[in-house]
Amino acid sequence: MERVLVAGATGALGQHVVAALKARGCRVRVLSRSAPRALSLGADEVVLGDATRPASIADACAGVERVFSCLGQSVAANLAIRGPGYHAVDYLGNHHLIEAAKRARVGRFVYVSVFGAEAYPANAYLRAHADVAAELRASGLRYAIIQPTGFFSAFGAFLAMARGGMATLFGSGTARSNPIHDADLAELCADTTLNATNEEILVGGPEVYTRREVIELAFAALGRQPRIVRAPAWAPGAIGAALHPFAPRIGELLAFFGVVSRNDFVAPPYGERRLGDYFRELTTTSR
Ligand SMILES: NC(=O)c1ccc[n+]([C@@H]2O[C@H](COP(=O)([O-])OP(=O)(O)OC[C@H]3O[C@@H](n4cnc5c(N)ncnc54)[C@H](OP(=O)(O)O)[C@@H]3O)[C@@H](O)[C@H]2O)c1
Repeated sequence: MERVLVAGATGALGQHVVAALKARGCRVRVLSRSAPRALSLGADEVVLGDATRPASIADACAGVERVFSCLGQSVAANLAIRGPGYHAVDYLGNHHLIEAAKRARVGRFVYVSVFGAEAYPANAYLRAHADVAAELRASGLRYAIIQPTGFFSAFGAFLAMARGGMATLFGSGTARSNPIHDADLAELCADTTLNATNEEILVGGPEVYTRREVIELAFAALGRQPRIVRAPAWAPGAIGAALHPFAPRIGELLAFFGVVSRNDFVAPPYGERRLGDYFRELTTTSR
C-alpha cells in the first residue's frame, strides 16, 4: 500500500485528490493548518502544520513514499480573504515542504503549478509557481509538475456575478481558455502521484471558451439574458497595483486576472465534465 502525504488537501482540488488516492488503495496523510477541516476528509492520518513555518512540518513527510502538493494561497475571487502574497505562501510553503521531503527521502514529489507559469514572470502569482517548479526540478527528488488551467470551482465566481444580475468583462472578452473540473484534474493528479518517471504535464478541460462565452454560460444556467459591463483590460492590473501595499493577495490576484483577460490559456484537453453542466448543478445545489 502506497503511503502519500497530501498538502493542500482541504482545498478545492485537494479534497478530490484525497478521494482519488483513497479509491486507488493508498494510505493518505493530510497536512492542514486546521484540525476540523482536515478531519472532515476521511484521511488515514492528519498532520497539523503551517508550511510557512518549517519547524511545524519538519516530520510531515516521515514514513511516506510520495508527496502530492497543491498547497497555496487562495485564488478565490473573494475580497474578504486577505493575507500575504503568493511568494510568501506558495513559494516558501512548498520550499519548506520540498526540504522536508528530501530529508525524509521520499520517492516522488508531485506539485500543482499553473498553466503558463513560466510565460509571465512579471506576474507575482505565476512567478511563485514557476519558482517552486524550478526548485523541484533541481531538488534531486523524482518529481512531476502539473500545470493546469483554471478549475471549475474558481469559475464559480462568474455564476455568482450572474446571480447578482451583472457580470464584469475585462477587455474584449475574446481571450480563450479551457478550464477543467476539479474532480477530473484530481484523477490525473492521483495517477501522476503513483507514476514513477519525471513528468511535466500541461492540462485543461475538454472545451475551449472565450471569457464572454463563460459569462454567457453562467447567465444561461440561471435562465437569464446576459447583462455585461465592460471594463478595460488594464483595469485589474492597475487596481491590483494600487491595492498591493495593503492587501498583497488581492493585488496579485487582480494582476493575474488582468493577464488571463488579455491572453489565451489553452492546454491539452483532459476529462469529460463540461462547464455549462457544472454551472447548472450549482444553481440546483446552492440556491
Ligand atoms: N483554482 C484554480 O483555478 C487553479 C488553477 C491552476 C492552478 N491552481 C493552483 O492549484 C493549487 C490548489 O488550488 P485550490 O484552488 O485547490 O486552492 P485552495 O482551495 O485555496 O486550497 C489551498 C490549500 O492550501 C493549503 N494551505 C494554504 N496555506 C497553507 C500553509 N501555510 N500551510 C499548510 N497548508 C496551507 C490550505 O490548507 P488549510 O487551509 O487547511 O491549511 C488548502 O488546503 C494552488 O496552488 C493554486 O494556485 C489553482
